[in-house]
Amino acid sequence: MQNHVYLNIVDALPHPALILDYEYKIQNANSAAENLFEAGLAGLDFVRVLRQPGAIECLSKAVKTGELKTCDLVLHLQTPRTYKASAASLVGAGCDSILFTLIDISAEIDAEKSRSTFVANVSHELRSPLTSLMGIVETLQGPAREDVKARDNFLGLMHGETQRMSRLVGDLLSLSKLEAKEHLPPKGEVGIPRLIRQIIAVLSESKPDYKNRVVLTASDDLPPITGDRDELTEVFQNLIENALKYSEPKTQVEVQIFQAEDTIKITIKDKGEGIAPEHLPRLTERFYRVDKGRSRDAGGTGLGLAITKHILNRHRGRLSIESAVGVGSFVSVVLPA
Ligand SMILES: Nc1ncnc2c1ncn2[C@@H]1O[C@H](COP(=O)(O)OP(=O)(O)OP(=O)(O)O)[C@@H](O)[C@H]1O
Ligand SMILES: [Mg+2]
Repeated sequence: MQNHVYLNIVDALPHPALILDYEYKIQNANSAAENLFEAGLAGLDFVRVLRQPGAIECLSKAVKTGELKTCDLVLHLQTPRTYKASAASLVGAGCDSILFTLIDISAEIDAEKSRSTFVANVSHELRSPLTSLMGIVETLQGPAREDVKARDNFLGLMHGETQRMSRLVGDLLSLSKLEAKEHLPPKGEVGIPRLIRQIIAVLSESKPDYKNRVVLTASDDLPPITGDRDELTEVFQNLIENALKYSEPKTQVEVQIFQAEDTIKITIKDKGEGIAPEHLPRLTERFYRVDKGRSRDAGGTGLGLAITKHILNRHRGRLSIESAVGVGSFVSVVLPA
């Protein structure tokens, strides 16, 4: 095969690709490679362009053995990214050269990392109620076997722990269902003010601490939106409950619903403890909690905002959270009207 044919092939490759001679001088670079490193790579020394001992070793092994060699490289360009590099010796064509290609595998590595973090988080969340259930069962089988009062107390604790596990499993299931149908637009018509009024009524009855704290202001004659009633209930229940849960008893939570151009905007303002800026970008991650102990004590799974984000994506809505420590939080949801 002639050299110019190699060059055409390299130009046609979608990933960064270079042809080098046996002294590692660059003969040709496709546009993906020039975008990655710099323009005008032909004629430059490969070692100067990519100062990576791992890459040089890969090249020399490919030349020595005549086989395809691969290695992983972390390139610190604008941001660190991991590439699978491969070097193949192109011999027997009258001009000895090496084809060097790079494939960006950062997304795969990130996906694998987040999968294993997720499994570790789920196991950790399940382990603590399970450990306490095992302890209670042992006590009931042993020292508290005949003690009726202690038994009632322990049964109450068991009830709490099983509820916590059941909530966790329920949230995980709804998250995975949402992920599966995120690209399907929702069906149904929902009147947001009515839905939010119902949520406030239910929340007010759920805990004495939540009674008479939410003040709702809704514009008249808001059009219904296209959406899934149950999913939107989950969104606003979580957001309003967060506002109540992460602020002092008796402080007010203001909810406003109004039309803004062709959208319906819902804002939820609390005078709570607030959230420090470094936490804000991570709040919608699964299991992310600012104060783990506090959220758990309040029966939270840390999945509420992750579920909220998925539901809003499906509804082509947006969520934004502004907050200041000691002042409170301001959450807004925008939904297409
Ligand atoms: N209004 C708020 N004020 C202060 N902190 C908040 C507020 N809303 C959310 N947070 C913080 O964000 C974290 C994540 O919220 P999210 O709703 O996802 O989980 P959760 O409330 O802990 O659990 P769950 O929603 O499953 O009951 C909370 O643990 C809390 O630390
Ligand atoms: Mg929550």
